[in-house]
Amino acid sequence: MISAIIVAAGSGTRMGAKVDKLFLELNGCPIVAHTWRRFDEAACIDEIIMVVREGMQPAFAELAEKYSFRKKFRLVAGGKERQDSVWNGLAALSPDTDIVAIQDAARPCTSQALIAATIEAARQTGAAVAAQPVNDTIKESADGQLVARTLDRSRLWAVQTPQTFRVEIIRDALSEVRRRNLLVTDDTAACELIGQPVKLVVSARPNPKITRPEDLPIAEVLLRNLTPGA
Ligand code: CTP
Ligand code: MG
Repeated sequence: MISAIIVAAGSGTRMGAKVDKLFLELNGCPIVAHTWRRFDEAACIDEIIMVVREGMQPAFAELAEKYSFRKKFRLVAGGKERQDSVWNGLAALSPDTDIVAIQDAARPCTSQALIAATIEAARQTGAAVAAQPVNDTIKESADGQLVARTLDRSRLWAVQTPQTFRVEIIRDALSEVRRRNLLVTDDTAACELIGQPVKLVVSARPNPKITRPEDLPIAEVLLRNLTPGA
């Protein structure tokens, strides 16, 4: 069985909005409803675990009703950091889950083809991540003022979600993160800690994370161009 964990328990500080950023609307529909719908309609996904902030469960249950999502879902409370929210989501998976796709709720333009491709790659390698080669030249700076050095762009990838795993692998990897008291910004970083190879799955279309106000109009255009079922 294949499950999705959609992490939606952040506080959206960089968006600076007064309301939860995931409920800001894109083309008349909340960001998180777009994301949820992609997974609800994905034939390869059997169940959805939505990880939400404490107290937000009713708002999410209402959303499921309003948009008539059909797939079995569970609402789970998130944690302080994203990795804690993922951990709580893992604890809520059905026992017969063998593959889990972890998705940022703030990434509404993820295509169903990309979801399926990460699942296929996770079956083969154990862990897979949606990614795009970096187009800009990337500089490193120690102080945010002066450039320290230029990185070799040909080796750099920007990673996204879904990040998809055989369940026992991500459980082991995140257990190690917790045991060592580390903070990781994505799930595949946890795999690197335990020496688990992670397959890069090229994301053919833009798949941005809605982070700041200027990301909103771009996502609206991208969503208009996403064909249903793509
Ligand atoms: N997330 C989560 N639990 C947390 C932190 C983040 O479930 N403790 C989720 C967010 O809801 C989002 C995804 O992880 O869907 C990616 O996080 P990000 O884009 O950084 O969102 P926020 O953490 O909400 O925003 P910010 O960092 O600006 O506060
Ligand atoms: Mg964050």
